[in-house]
Amino acid sequence: MKGIVLAGGTGSRLHPVTIGICKQLAPVYNKPMIYYPLSTLMLAGITDILIICTPADRPAFTRLLGDGSRLGLTLTYAEQPQPNGLAEAFLIGASHIGDDTVALVLGDNIFHGHGFSGLLQSLAADVKGAVLFGYEVADPHRHGIGETDAGGRLVSIEEKPEHPRSNRAITGLYFYDNDVVEIAGRVTPSARGELEITDVSRAYMERGQARVVDLGRGFAWLDTGTHASLLDAGQYVRTLEERQGIQIACLEEIAMRMGLITPEQCYRLGAGAGHSTYSQYVMDTARAAMAGHRPE
Ligand code: G1P
Repeated sequence: MKGIVLAGGTGSRLHPVTIGICKQLAPVYNKPMIYYPLSTLMLAGITDILIICTPADRPAFTRLLGDGSRLGLTLTYAEQPQPNGLAEAFLIGASHIGDDTVALVLGDNIFHGHGFSGLLQSLAADVKGAVLFGYEVADPHRHGIGETDAGGRLVSIEEKPEHPRSNRAITGLYFYDNDVVEIAGRVTPSARGELEITDVSRAYMERGQARVVDLGRGFAWLDTGTHASLLDAGQYVRTLEERQGIQIACLEEIAMRMGLITPEQCYRLGAGAGHSTYSQYVMDTARAAMAGHRPE
């Protein structure tokens, strides 16, 4: 399965923070925001990942992440010059997807919960049609909203409805089979002039090929769309990390745990990365792994 992180857009709701840097590079506590969605793809076992960003932000992303080889990843970059909508990712990324299945994650979506990695890997192993991830929210008019039948099959989906039929948001992580390239090519711009991902998912629904996997209570899908929610997300990360001493979305640690790099390589990444608490954590985690210790 191929991965795409979509990190385009103007981030205008977070101005002036997002004038100098783009939203997906803004900090969520101790890491750039894109670390979180990137970690989601890595936890799904995906290593070949396309990052789509604006032309202006591309140098910053490549400076941060490079070609991914130090993490055992293959990272490539493509540009979305205009905010033409999320579904454009499949057109920009068509040659990256090739004849494979694809996971798209939005560059501002933060997922965190126990057992997530195993869930993602089992779903990624066999994608037919669309697999969407549902999450109960208090503000359904701000999201894509889906309804399912008792078997989890999608029966309705609407983008930011005025009168939501349910509280189940369709989160910014999407698994699609290879038909997505052709389906995205047929989507026409919505009233707001964008190629909507919701229309792609609806096309799968109409074929009876879209299902929703619910991320249950206790799971965190965090919003970063406003100054307040961005701060809340950072506080969430800080609270858990300080309580447990375990970091969320530490890419070096995940690469090591996924077997993409050795504990020794992980240690060297930490040692070569300056004197932050982050790099200290990378070294400590690698050292613990070398000693055979592995937290659940
Ligand atoms: C997009 C999608 C929406 C989805 C959301 C998840 O909206 O259009 O369906 O629920 O991402 O983050 P945006 O937040 O980009 O307006």
